Amino acid sequence: MKPIQVGLLGIGTVGSGTFNVLQRNQEEIKRRAGRGIEITMVADLDTDRARAAVGEGVQVVADARAVIANPDIDIVIELIGGYGIAKQLVLEAIAAGKHVVTANKALLAVHGTEIFAAAQQKGVMVAFEAAVAGGIPIIKALREGLTANSIQWIAGIINGTTNFILSEMRDKGLDFATVLKEAQRLGYAEADPTFDIEGVDAAHKVTLMSAIAFGIPVQFDKAHVEGITKLAAQDIKYAEQLGYRIKLLGITRRAAGGIELRVHPSLVPAKRLLANVEGAMNAVVVHGDAVGTTLYYGKGAGSEPTASAVIADLVDITRLHTADAAQRVPHLAFHPNAMSDDLKIVPMREVVTSYYLRLRVADEAGVLAKVTGLLASAGISIDAVLQREADEVGGEGSTQTDLIILTHDTREGTLDDAMVELQALPTVLAPIVRLRKEELS
Ligand code: HSE
Repeated sequence: MKPIQVGLLGIGTVGSGTFNVLQRNQEEIKRRAGRGIEITMVADLDTDRARAAVGEGVQVVADARAVIANPDIDIVIELIGGYGIAKQLVLEAIAAGKHVVTANKALLAVHGTEIFAAAQQKGVMVAFEAAVAGGIPIIKALREGLTANSIQWIAGIINGTTNFILSEMRDKGLDFATVLKEAQRLGYAEADPTFDIEGVDAAHKVTLMSAIAFGIPVQFDKAHVEGITKLAAQDIKYAEQLGYRIKLLGITRRAAGGIELRVHPSLVPAKRLLANVEGAMNAVVVHGDAVGTTLYYGKGAGSEPTASAVIADLVDITRLHTADAAQRVPHLAFHPNAMSDDLKIVPMREVVTSYYLRLRVADEAGVLAKVTGLLASAGISIDAVLQREADEVGGEGSTQTDLIILTHDTREGTLDDAMVELQALPTVLAPIVRLRKEELS
């Protein structure tokens, strides 16, 4: 059978990795797919770069629409990124009856509902394994491998840049800004790393996992998103002294009132595998009612790791494209007419979790009693308290100290209200630091 023909839009790091891995492993991939898979056309504004990446024998154009218009192309890979032209091109490719493979988590997390509906209507596949956790086959695992389960929760380190920064902050005791500069120098962090460090990239990814896990629409706009820019080196140190590490987690959880969808720095017990994922690596923990807790670990970015996911999608499409569209694996794991409308995203004030609080307080009699008394009257139970020597915190003769409190599970709104009262105490001398803590048990 003649090879299936693929058009590639955007040949940067992931695109050239995809081209190279497809070439290198073409025989084995063909034996798996049942048919050859060939990139025969590439569109990139930088045609010289594209030509250098693919050599002769592949048609290189500057205009992506020429790829979409080519009737010989069966699958379009979108590796442009962003919500702008990429969205138009993906919708145009679908309208032209092409299957689409994309690594664009931002596009799907924000416009997924529109894109998947268009694909459904046209009977084409939109595959996005590369959009979440790079080379880790987490989409496949959630959509197919764990299909027997009622998924209870997912917690993931799904942004390598921030995990690298947090690992360096902990190892070297450095502050956020210093490590960010180093990450940029080493090429881990983009020149504009806003989406990474503000938690937006992780929120795109957890939004997609949430939809697949719980059969709900993609709802990035309802996600709670906090990054790591305000994280202080001293909180990483105190967390360590209490037996925890701080990780930027993407969390989605089945809760009493609906589905939690949140990204924020979290204390994780140091003994958990997730707490020991270091550097730019990614890891996702999924808890299903039948299977229990499962862990997926690997490279979340990079040329060939991400290409590995893109090509897995190409193989899936090659195997399934002649099948009746209704018999294929649904884009978001659940059949479109069986998606749940009544599972709402839980507002943050209703989320129940445990907390780390750091209060800079006057080192004088009765302060601890006042703080713990206030928490007790709000019904917030304390798990642990750590008080540093004033000299250690503020230098010799200091009259201030840090009081660190770990709470048991409490409703976030209850804690918010208690924090307002704590902050108003005259002996609390600086803004209270509040971090969430996830036991992941
Ligand atoms: N910027 C992402 C990260 C890579 O740092 O993990 C691809 O999603």
